[in-house]
Amino acid sequence: MSLIGSRLSAVTRLLSDVKDNTLFADIGSDHAFLAIEVLKKGLAVSAIASDINEQPLLKGKENAARSGVKIDFYLSDGFDAIDSLPITSAAICGMGGELIAKIIGRSRVAHEATLIVQPMSAQEDLRKYLWDNGFVIEKEIFTLEANKSYTVMKLRFSGERTEYSYIDLFLGKEREQTKEFSLYCEKILTAAKKRRLGVVARNEDTAEIDGLIDFCQTQTTTL
Ligand SMILES: C[S@@+](CC[C@H](N)C(=O)[O-])C[C@H]1O[C@@H](n2cnc3c(N)ncnc32)[C@H](O)[C@@H]1O
Repeated sequence: MSLIGSRLSAVTRLLSDVKDNTLFADIGSDHAFLAIEVLKKGLAVSAIASDINEQPLLKGKENAARSGVKIDFYLSDGFDAIDSLPITSAAICGMGGELIAKIIGRSRVAHEATLIVQPMSAQEDLRKYLWDNGFVIEKEIFTLEANKSYTVMKLRFSGERTEYSYIDLFLGKEREQTKEFSLYCEKILTAAKKRRLGVVARNEDTAEIDGLIDFCQTQTTTL
């Protein structure tokens, strides 16, 4: 039986075509369910789980032992304690977009390995950071778990800045016409309507936020 839901399953889907994946690292591993699943599915030869807190590491160690897989555990802020290891792929999931950007920004591994990120908030700030700082979002999956919409992105560092529109920041560039994407648009639409109130209160131009609202409305009504 799988230990993970559709949010972390989307991560494993994005890892499934990584070639020569010798060492996978789960950053902010908590229960370590993702690293366990990656090994059980044979998506990497070996795995590391790291967390900034001791308690999650203890929990992760128990779960790995119970599942019969070997994972190396590290106490680490982001990649700090493991950045010299030959990591070929890594996931940073279940954290805010701004924290994910900070973790990526100071890491060597993040600039060399295949990265999967799943921000819980500030997705637009994370996309902006990535495109401004030479990362390519190779694939983006929108998924639904317990009635909540999530985005999961596969990244690669190219060193080249990517151009983007205001709508791209909120919805990504790869917008698969799925029910999950439509529900993601609903979430962004609700937030955009609130954001518009602030724009109006500050007497700022509403053209960009109106464009986003219009786009989301089209997606939520046509799908
Ligand atoms: C909400 S849990 C997410 C667990 C798992 N990644 C998932 O997506 O289900 C966030 C985990 O990240 C850890 N964490 C928070 N900040 C971190 C950092 N700077 N470096 C490493 N781990 C961090 C927390 O201790 C916690 O275990």
